[in-house]
Amino acid sequence: MGPGAIHLRGFAEEAAGALVQAIREVEARAPFRRMTTRRGFKMSVGMTNCGRYGWISDREGYRYSEIDPVSGHSWPALPTTVRDLAVAAAAEAGYVGFDPDACLVNRYEPGSGLALHQDRNERDATAPIVSVSLGLPATFLFGGLDRKLRASRTTLRHGDVVVWGGLSRFFFHGVLRLGEGQHETLGRTRINLTVRRAG
Ligand code: SIN
Ligand code: FE2
Repeated sequence: MGPGAIHLRGFAEEAAGALVQAIREVEARAPFRRMTTRRGFKMSVGMTNCGRYGWISDREGYRYSEIDPVSGHSWPALPTTVRDLAVAAAAEAGYVGFDPDACLVNRYEPGSGLALHQDRNERDATAPIVSVSLGLPATFLFGGLDRKLRASRTTLRHGDVVVWGGLSRFFFHGVLRLGEGQHETLGRTRINLTVRRAG
């Protein structure tokens, strides 16, 4: 998809059932919520986290936090199934020794999308981002270091994994608004995990 970026089609297909179960356990302790941007807009994507660090956004901006502001407690631990899958995908993409400590869980419904952005709050720029897609398909935009650069479009389906790091670690990316659909296990939703090294 770009220098250091790879689309691993179906890489998480076998693990998908266990991943969905793990997400159910995470959301029981840290429910999905729609966060607010610094400018006061409510994001259309529902978000939660697991792992030591969680990505949060509010009127003060976005950052990582060890505390879930909704519960006042730490985030649920990174499930072993999520960690193992992410470490294997990273290795498959050439990033050996990936040691994640954060996982942002995004929940999309038809109409939700994510504007072009860079993932740049993580301390270790040598660690890749591992993205796992479950449920309804979505169009993933992957651009370059300049927001204005034309982004490529890739359909991400249930079980697909994308790994980006190296020269494309800070490339702009986003998700087009989800279309209507019904997935056999996740219904009208898409869930995306981005597994990261944040601390
Ligand atoms: C993200 O950039 O945080 C999520 C990407 C995706 O949902 O595919
Ligand atoms: Fe991102």
